[in-house]
Amino acid sequence: MKKIAVFASGNGSNAENIINYMRATGAEAEVAVIVTNRKDAGVIGRANRLNVPVEVMSRQEINDSSRMLDVIDNYGIDAIVLAGFLLMVPGFLIERFPDKILNIHPSLLPKFGGRGMYGHHVHEAVAAAGENMSGITVHFVSEECDGGRIVFQASVGIEPTDTPADIETKVRHLEQEHFPRVVVETLVKATEKV
Ligand code: GRF
Repeated sequence: MKKIAVFASGNGSNAENIINYMRATGAEAEVAVIVTNRKDAGVIGRANRLNVPVEVMSRQEINDSSRMLDVIDNYGIDAIVLAGFLLMVPGFLIERFPDKILNIHPSLLPKFGGRGMYGHHVHEAVAAAGENMSGITVHFVSEECDGGRIVFQASVGIEPTDTPADIETKVRHLEQEHFPRVVVETLVKATEKV
């Protein structure tokens, strides 16, 4: 059984979808811990309801290699998924988990990525640019913000009348539809021992 840590700073709908998907499909993986940097994050209530342990860690603790790697080792973590995690992942984690940290970004990278491009800011920028398409990008995490190798994209059409909130709704549907499966296919099946 692969043990996955999900890092999340916010609402946690993607974290919940991943947990439910793994349970429902009998995947050879489970979310062993949720790590969050915000003690008021919505993801905490979801994790409690789903009986998944939560570690609330400050930015300083996340960046402290001995503290962070203690958490990783305590839960026996094999791979990490970022789902609405707003801090940069420290370099020592990227070194420890090569091609085993995935992020989801709510646009078609490289468009609308980089620092400051998160949550509603992304959908506002997409609407303001008059794009006729947006979507999701799942990528490996590298030292560069939103810059790692892309493993999956899915797109959706945007109408000229769509507001940023409409775009977000469409993008969230794509996240729900694809992200858990892409996580399992990329992090679990690819790391199965033969
Ligand atoms: C999602 O739109 C995700 O793509 C982005 O942040 C949002 C997180 O939403 N990285 P949630 O906390 O999973 O509900």
